[in-house]
Amino acid sequence: MDIIRVEGGHPLEGTVRVSGAKNSALKLMAATLLAPGTTTLTNVPDISDVHVMGKVLKRMGARIEVVDKHTLAIDTSGVDSWEAPYELVAKMRASTAVMGPLLGRFGKAKIAMPGGCNLGARKIDMHILGLEALGVEFDTSHGYIHADASKGLTGTNVTLEFASVGATENLIMAAVRAAGTTVIDNAAREPEIVDLACMLNEMGAQIQGAGTPVVTVEGVNELHPVTHRVVGDRIEAGTFLVAGALVAGPAGVTVTGFSPQHLGMVIRKMEAMGVRIETLPDGSGLTAHRAEHIAPVDIQTLPFPGFPTDMQAQAMTLSALAEGNSIITENIFENRFMFASELVRMGADIHIEGHHAMIHGVRGYSGAPVTSPDLRGGAALVLAGLIAEGTTDVSAIHHIDRGYENFVEKLVGLDACVERTTVPDPDLD
Ligand code: EPU
Repeated sequence: MDIIRVEGGHPLEGTVRVSGAKNSALKLMAATLLAPGTTTLTNVPDISDVHVMGKVLKRMGARIEVVDKHTLAIDTSGVDSWEAPYELVAKMRASTAVMGPLLGRFGKAKIAMPGGCNLGARKIDMHILGLEALGVEFDTSHGYIHADASKGLTGTNVTLEFASVGATENLIMAAVRAAGTTVIDNAAREPEIVDLACMLNEMGAQIQGAGTPVVTVEGVNELHPVTHRVVGDRIEAGTFLVAGALVAGPAGVTVTGFSPQHLGMVIRKMEAMGVRIETLPDGSGLTAHRAEHIAPVDIQTLPFPGFPTDMQAQAMTLSALAEGNSIITENIFENRFMFASELVRMGADIHIEGHHAMIHGVRGYSGAPVTSPDLRGGAALVLAGLIAEGTTDVSAIHHIDRGYENFVEKLVGLDACVERTTVPDPDLD
């Protein structure tokens, strides 16, 4: 059993460059289905979720050449299957991102119904309602969603009940091939959606307004392959900035490879907590300094440009050491506080009431064996270990591998005392 072992208390210093954004790369890979031929993606993170998406595309008949660790040449000309099978969707819900592109190119898709996950029920009803409005007929049986647009996709107005990232993306990817104009109102505005729209426009799509609540898509007859660079991972960047705020040495921790504008609300909240954050003179990154005194600050997660749910656990590692009481409210996922109970095992004082976490700041953490509940929670436990007294062993680190490339190596590059090691699996004793 692989674990991440963290020896707390070693100051971090230096510069870390983040990888391309997981949540962009996965959708860009799905979008290659729309353009027969070879699309080359650069700055692709080498993480297990990307490997799963690669398998999904290969099952459909795509050929993927790994040009180098971060460059994939994806040839979708031979795609002759429209199915995302259960074993892959069960591994990674983002596999459902192929639905929009498959409908756009082939007019059909067969997608295993995603069940709930450790973040909550995570329905896809908004994807389906939106696609129905475009003319897709759905039939669900034997655990699969059969989507049929053989009568053609027709542009229309769709108002999303909630600014869902996945629904916005699936709708955009279907609408690029619909007849006429689609207007998506209450669209999600995440930077990864802007990245997707940019690539689709490079491919010949006519998308306007990505990054605003109203996205307009003028359907086109064909899209052509391109070369596109994946946007930098704002969440990975935020994770390292929190590491700096917790335990940086005098020079701070500098993070590059992303756009600081994508972290506006995170920076604002960290500064309100007393963290000094400087922008590099050329704007290419940020330096976070250690916060000697952390001020309590209330945070609520919201769609972009609000505070990202994907930074909630990392922010909690700071709040739980604040001098006073904070409340963190999780508005996006119903089950994203599992991390808090693990942090309590390290000495935090946190009470969960529904979607609120009531946090009473403590003076420090004590190293403990803990279990990653999910991707961001796992990374946050490693962060807590960096400042904890003694050793923290974080297990179930496959969650972390889903979204953080070389997390341990990058932390070691900042002088952290962290290692990935193998211990006997207690279940096998
Ligand atoms: N929802 C519905 N019905 C739908 C769609 C969404 O009820 O049809 C609900 C979900 O259950 C959830 C909320 O709406 O409670 C938000 O879901 P959204 O569709 O916005 O999220 P997503 O597309 O499933 C992506 C990221 C998540 C990130 C969220 C929010 C990917 C692969 N995943 O998920 O990333 O937290 O947007 O920003 O892009 C992560 O990276 O750790 C992660 C979980």
